[in-house]
Amino acid sequence: MHRSIWRFLLPLLFLLSTSALAEAPQRVVVLGGALTEIAYALGAGDRLVGADQSSIYPPAAHTLPKVGYYRQFSVEGVVALRPDLILASEQAGPPEAINQLRRLGKRVVVLPADASLAALEQRIYGVAGALQLRNDGRALVARLQRDVAALQKQPASKARTLLLIQRGRQAEGAGLDTAAHGTLQLAGLSNVLAGQKGYKPLSLESIAALRPELIVTSTLSLQAAGGIDALLAQPGIAQTPAAKQRRVIVLDDLLLLGFGPRLPEAIAQLRKPLGKAS
Ligand code: HEM
Repeated sequence: MHRSIWRFLLPLLFLLSTSALAEAPQRVVVLGGALTEIAYALGAGDRLVGADQSSIYPPAAHTLPKVGYYRQFSVEGVVALRPDLILASEQAGPPEAINQLRRLGKRVVVLPADASLAALEQRIYGVAGALQLRNDGRALVARLQRDVAALQKQPASKARTLLLIQRGRQAEGAGLDTAAHGTLQLAGLSNVLAGQKGYKPLSLESIAALRPELIVTSTLSLQAAGGIDALLAQPGIAQTPAAKQRRVIVLDDLLLLGFGPRLPEAIAQLRKPLGKAS
């Protein structure tokens, strides 16, 4: 749907729903770091009583009671916080957990998770509408549009980039249909794994042949890998020009993957001229 329609439709939907006629929600649990970030950016952090573990920004979000990771949250943990609203990314789940919350009479508002500026706008209007905020999000959306447009006018390096995320024992590369790919595109970087869909373990031969000149990764991936040296020493990665020249950019997981209000900051960091990681 055209994004300007969402701007008006989302608040209207909330007004039409009977529960929205009640008082504005005061005890909100958020499942999805980008939504938490938006609530704070709109000045509504004080309405939050809990969040999931991907809610790592702003620093105040660290003090919120946690209910597990949004893709596998704890229903009991959410209910124990006695929320009058649950704001959930559409990737929050599993689906049965969302259904269970609804069966328990909890109001759940699900917002789009797509990795695009249009979906980010929908998330902002959705949060503002669900929380019935006076700040309807338009100023924040206008600022983001302006900042992203200004960044995209600047020259991009178009560097051949490998985006690595490590959650378990081995790093995986991000292909099409990932938020990671969306961020790279906005930053004008060329994803060497655009020939695959989703996240996959690296194939040694293909990575050597793709010859990435830049590696982008996240803070938690570095931790999981045991630090930058251990990540760059992994088979397949070690042979790349990026690893040999230590051309690595590390962003926090929510900044890199979240498509939240710090999207311009993520783009700006990825657009910096290639340099060596220390
Ligand atoms: C602050 C921490 C985290 C944030 C902000 C975060 C956020 C995200 C986001 C936005 C995605 C979609 C990625 C994309 O499409 O490119 C994702 C995917 C995923 N995350 Fe997290 N995540 C965090 C930590 C973790 C941790 C610690 C684990 C597991 C140990 C994990 C497991 C996964 C899995 C399994 C996927 C799906 C990957 C796939 O599509 O194959 N995440 N996460």
